[in-house]
Amino acid sequence: MLEPYRNQKYDDKEAVNTSHDLVKIFERRRTIRHFSSEAPSSEVILNAIDIARMAPSGANRQPWSFCLIGSAEVKKEIRKLAEKEEYEFYHERPNKEWLKSLEHLHTNEEKAFLEEAPFLIGIFYKHYNVVDGKKDSTNYYAKESVGIATGMLISALHLSGLSVLTYTPSKMQFLAPYLDRPSEERTFMVLGVGLPKDNVLVPKIEKKTMDQILTTYLS
Ligand SMILES: Cc1cc2nc3c(=O)[nH]c(=O)nc-3n(C[C@H](O)[C@H](O)[C@H](O)COP(=O)(O)O)c2cc1C
Repeated sequence: MLEPYRNQKYDDKEAVNTSHDLVKIFERRRTIRHFSSEAPSSEVILNAIDIARMAPSGANRQPWSFCLIGSAEVKKEIRKLAEKEEYEFYHERPNKEWLKSLEHLHTNEEKAFLEEAPFLIGIFYKHYNVVDGKKDSTNYYAKESVGIATGMLISALHLSGLSVLTYTPSKMQFLAPYLDRPSEERTFMVLGVGLPKDNVLVPKIEKKTMDQILTTYLS
């Protein structure tokens, strides 16, 4: 079955202007690691997840689920579980090359943001679906699909004026059982979401230029 496609139509000038405005807005997107205690409305976050839900996915399998966490108790436990993993990562089984690449971010095993961020979003994906306790069907390109949905989620949050910390502990297996996720779900990442703390600082980094990342074949 097919149905009419109804996208918003811009004239060319409007499209160019919109794209320039978006570049300016996205130039200001940064990962922040210290959140204000002022909590944004959960409605903004629910709408951003609603946008992620519209993402394209391999064979439209939509292999993702999201957990929105605002409970202080749940955040505290996630921090405790995460810091246990992080301690091992930084001290007990350190990968020197990996740790070196993180030096400029000044991160360590302490993950206070997991409690300070007003909201955490746990993002999960699954390579297959289970029906009546049995493997039913495969999800193709599950990780690519959830990555695109997460990009749309981060973009929607940024466009709504919220800041995000993309958090990927080296071992994330602790999260799915703690949140009682179905056994076929794998943790993709955790986002800390909120408003930045006043006068927050971010690492001074460079983004690659268009010349460095783009090759054109236009005529
Ligand atoms: C897949 C992925 C995993 C990341 N994991 C972490 C993390 O575990 N902890 C952290 O502090 N930042 C993490 N980040 C944030 C990056 O460090 C950050 O995006 C990068 O330094 C560029 O900075 P910017 O987001 O401010 O442009 C992650 C980002 C991505 C895309």
